[in-house]
Amino acid sequence: MTDSTTAAPAPRTDPVAADGSGAAGSGRDSLTVTDNRTGQTYELEITDGTIRAADLKQISVGGQGLATYDPGFVNTASTRSAVTYIDGDAGILEYRGYPIEQLAEHSTFLEVAYLLLNGELPTQPELDAFTHDVTIHTFLHENVRQLMQGFRYDAHPMGMLMSSVSALSTFYPDANQISDPENRKRQITRLIAKMPTLGAWAFRHNQGKPYVYPDNRLSYVENFLAMLFKMSEPTYEADPRLVKALDVLLILHADHEQNCSTNAVRSVGSSQVDPYSAIAAGIGALYGPLHGGANESVLKMLRRIGTVDNIPGFIEGVKAGKEKLMGFGHRVYKNFDPRATIIKKACDDVFEVTGVNPLLEIAQQLEKIALEDEYFVKRKLYPNVDFYSGLIYEALQFPPEMFTVLFAIGRTPGWLAQWSELVQDKEQKIARPKQIYTGYRTRDFVPMTER
Ligand SMILES: CC(C)(COP(=O)(O)OP(=O)(O)OC[C@H]1O[C@@H](n2cnc3c(N)ncnc32)[C@H](O)[C@@H]1OP(=O)(O)O)[C@@H](O)C(=O)NCCC(=O)NCCS
Repeated sequence: MTDSTTAAPAPRTDPVAADGSGAAGSGRDSLTVTDNRTGQTYELEITDGTIRAADLKQISVGGQGLATYDPGFVNTASTRSAVTYIDGDAGILEYRGYPIEQLAEHSTFLEVAYLLLNGELPTQPELDAFTHDVTIHTFLHENVRQLMQGFRYDAHPMGMLMSSVSALSTFYPDANQISDPENRKRQITRLIAKMPTLGAWAFRHNQGKPYVYPDNRLSYVENFLAMLFKMSEPTYEADPRLVKALDVLLILHADHEQNCSTNAVRSVGSSQVDPYSAIAAGIGALYGPLHGGANESVLKMLRRIGTVDNIPGFIEGVKAGKEKLMGFGHRVYKNFDPRATIIKKACDDVFEVTGVNPLLEIAQQLEKIALEDEYFVKRKLYPNVDFYSGLIYEALQFPPEMFTVLFAIGRTPGWLAQWSELVQDKEQKIARPKQIYTGYRTRDFVPMTER
């Protein structure tokens, strides 16, 4: 694994203060700003559609440089990245330039992981070597098993996953040698290999069933399914159509550029901590209902609707603002979510094996009605990745608490590719946002008796 394709560009020179010469229509890649407090004009360089926030510092009154205020990073680029491209208006998602539709159809999850991490599709020998490396790292230290067994019987699997990934840093203390490429490669391989084992054991723990050890004769997804569902049979044999569907779902979740959890990985990673700690932070971010938990809400919504006859009443309630149509709408995708189209197709393959989930008819009818309704059309609300994925996961016998664990396993190569890029990016610094202080200034301490 050579994580070398993402070297950061050389830092640019500081902008020049100007006298208004960068006027509108001059064709220059710059922004002219007049500070009305002082009447001074500045010219800020525009590169790739952005200005540097640090360039605003020179616009200063009383020694106080200008800054931007952007809660939730809604209009702030935090990095240059060559991993994933999204065009929300056009419904485009590409990993390293390859459209998600082509990867879902022709590739496998491990091949996509290699692509994300290395920037190029592997040759057959490269893929074989990567698959071999991942396969031989699936086992966990026995003390990790004991650690997981210490959780309460009903512990949420995401809490177990986050804690156990974090604990891995104590088993591999050399993982903090993050500037050593070989070391990084070793930890990346370990994490991708061990995530299914950790996820499956969290699931078995919830079920009160014995943990199943990896079977390295099986493929990545087959092995995961075996660790989840194997009972007394000597070898667990999964239906290849289900294996393919789960593999596709993992591919669809493998990266999504600078979202909440990736930002958490990068932010924590910027302190130069080991990757296990950084990925544990990403799992924590994903655990939240605004990020990884929407497909569970879709299932609950479909159950509550209950029958096709109740759909019009439900839609009226949504339009009246009583609730949201879960699984619809996206911050970035405004015409369609390309992942939703692929998942819809995977539904057919899965239901061919498992029998149709009765909620599918409600989902399909709901989608049809919503896509024709002016309320949703006007607001550009289309099914997102979560609208159908919950139905598939349920058909594969996953309880809702496991949905986000599957997301985390899929997202691990993306998190690691982004972490790897961060570590090699000479322009990056420890993440340390500014604040606008709104509290008291210097006050004298008040003794207890006088409060
Ligand atoms: C994903 C989501 C958070 C994006 O939010 P956003 O980009 O901030 O979009 P907004 O909340 O500004 O929505 C724009 C308008 O569409 C409406 N809207 C957005 N999603 C809606 C939904 N799922 N059902 C009904 N109305 C919705 C909003 O109420 C708003 O209407 P208004 O202009 O009349 O106030 C939002 O669409 C949502 O909550 N969807 C449901 C949850 C979900 O499926 N999440 C998974 C995302 S992968």
